[in-house]
Amino acid sequence: VDFSNFRSQTGGIITLDPGYKNTGSCKSEITYLDGEEGVLMYRGYPIEQLAEKSNFTEVMYLLLNGELPQADQLSKFENDIKDHDMVSEDITKILAAFPSSAHPMGVLSTLTSSLTAFNPKAVNVKSEADMYRAAVTLLGKFPVLASWTLRKMKGWPLNYSDNKLGYVENFYQLMFKQPNKDLEMDPIVIDALDKLLILHADHEQNCSTSTVRLVGSAHTGLFASISSGVSALWGPLHGGANQAVVEMLELIQEDGGNVQKWVDKAKDKNDDFRLMGFGHRVYKNFDPRARIIKKAADQILDKLGIQDEALEIAKKLEQAALEDDYFVSRKLYPNVDFYSGIIYKALGIPTEMFTVMFAVGRLPGWIAQWIEMRKNNEPIGRPRQIYTGPAKRDYLDISAR
Ligand code: ACO
Repeated sequence: VDFSNFRSQTGGIITLDPGYKNTGSCKSEITYLDGEEGVLMYRGYPIEQLAEKSNFTEVMYLLLNGELPQADQLSKFENDIKDHDMVSEDITKILAAFPSSAHPMGVLSTLTSSLTAFNPKAVNVKSEADMYRAAVTLLGKFPVLASWTLRKMKGWPLNYSDNKLGYVENFYQLMFKQPNKDLEMDPIVIDALDKLLILHADHEQNCSTSTVRLVGSAHTGLFASISSGVSALWGPLHGGANQAVVEMLELIQEDGGNVQKWVDKAKDKNDDFRLMGFGHRVYKNFDPRARIIKKAADQILDKLGIQDEALEIAKKLEQAALEDDYFVSRKLYPNVDFYSGIIYKALGIPTEMFTVMFAVGRLPGWIAQWIEMRKNNEPIGRPRQIYTGPAKRDYLDISAR
């Protein structure tokens, strides 16, 4: 290999690692991930235990503070979030300017970024107290904005936080409560939502989290950094896969349900189609979140008495892929998004909202990672490149070209 091109101006060698497949960008104390063994832990606690025994508010606290809370710490944290759950009326004017056909993720990214203008105090953070205030401000307002993207799409009147409710119940009523009508809160639905939010809460240096850290490394404020994370998550190769999975399952169903045909299509290198919800950059074994979600999907559909053909197709598709040498040899397993959309659908959440649900879950992880980056005084992120363009040449006047 000729390394002459790989020299930086300071004389060192530049490593070229497109997609950062083998490049660590930081040291982090937040989330541990072993892709070979299929292990995921937040602050040392296995995801299986958190999903079964904890709740989303506790997990948010854990990610941000490093420890599970005592009862008084948890209630202070909840109250601090509630103190910040009002959103400026002027933001509703920005929302009003969007067509109802706008994708909720685009709307969410814009509204999140606009918080910067309405909350100037939370932008210039220097001390730990500033960071905490910015964090609870965003944790309070983000579910409101997320619910507004749904209500805009549906043409429903906007709704506001109910301080008497817990974080997940409040998010649910923000989305679905209609004026002058009672909203039934089925504990099965709230529990399922809570579990999904826990499972999505952090996942070390994935695409959106790396985006949040990179944008924040220029000392850009928290809200603008998170808005970039929302945009990164939107893509179908990342969080957008949960919407793409259900659309794919519906397509397979309409096409007669022949899963082998679609497995073969995904293997065909002349075809762009990929099995959505399959494969992962880091997991070369079962995604532990997918195991938990698959089991939960079965239980929730059963408890709610829903028969969903899409779930049956998903199971057959998984089976066919896991028996196929193409998927086995490449270690492609179902990821977190393969079964999550089926649960969201059963909970009455429209397909276009699935990635927004993911964003609400990932928010505490993004914030914890952003704070860690700032506390560690990390330098501005600035990768290098290998230049492959033309060598030096002289400018020609337009008449001579
Ligand atoms: N269907 C068919 N083939 C696949 C799939 C798939 N879903 N995923 C990977 N492959 C193949 C690739 O074609 C490639 O084959 P090759 O070696 O013959 O060229 C090989 O497996 C390796 O795939 P890469 O794309 O190089 O792996 P990478 O780590 O870059 O991509 C990714 C990971 C983006 C998740 C990929 O597996 C994918 O596109 N999956 C579908 C989308 C998806 O489910 N995304 C959600 C990920 S989880 C999350 O972000 C929340």
